[in-house]
Amino acid sequence: MINAFLFDLDGVLVDTAVFHYQAWRRMANSLGFDFTHEFNETLKGISRMDSLDRILALGGVTLSDEKKLELAAQKNEWYLELVSQMTPDDILPGALGFLEQTKRAGIRVALGSVSKNAPLILERVGITHLFDALIDGSKITNSKPDPEVFLKGAAELNVAPAECIVFEDAVAGVEAAKRGGMFAVGIGTPDVLTEADLVVPNLEHLTIPELRAAVDRAQG
Ligand code: BG6
Ligand code: MG
Repeated sequence: MINAFLFDLDGVLVDTAVFHYQAWRRMANSLGFDFTHEFNETLKGISRMDSLDRILALGGVTLSDEKKLELAAQKNEWYLELVSQMTPDDILPGALGFLEQTKRAGIRVALGSVSKNAPLILERVGITHLFDALIDGSKITNSKPDPEVFLKGAAELNVAPAECIVFEDAVAGVEAAKRGGMFAVGIGTPDVLTEADLVVPNLEHLTIPELRAAVDRAQG
């Protein structure tokens, strides 16, 4: 029985995954190197400081903790410049309709994002009121693929993990959902999100009866 949906934010409800990519690349370029779209897939769902460590390791750059904090703050400033231009039109195709369909079906809704900017972004695009619980980067200790963010979401909604569906665009996020004992819907392509129980390009044509049927099939 499915009673709750847990949504990642960046790349699932809004197109901010692209902004993270642009801001991190700008930072890498300022240090004299670049990274690919494929490498960027490995950063999705990973916290700010862990992402920075991975990028610096890729570029073979070693820095003091103080300098790393400075770079992370600079990246966030560049990221927020992009976010400041967002409007409700930046909600990804189908996401708003799907959230509304979810509320009408009486399914509980939580956000499960490792981003510390998540509350600000929800406000900017005007969808904060659609969530029963908000778990963001300020409420967790461990980044995805650790299941903490989703387990906290389920606990706050008072729903068992097996009664939750997670919506995720990140490889690390799908892994977090599976490790938490939840059904994982990947938003993207099956060649990247290989561990997801179901993969769709976006939330546009997804219906709740169809999802319930997919969960029933998976649970035998
Ligand atoms: C995740 C993104 O949602 O949030 C990552 O997929 C990002 O790319 C992480 O690093 C942390 O975000 P923020 O906004 O706290 O820097
Ligand atoms: Mg994401």
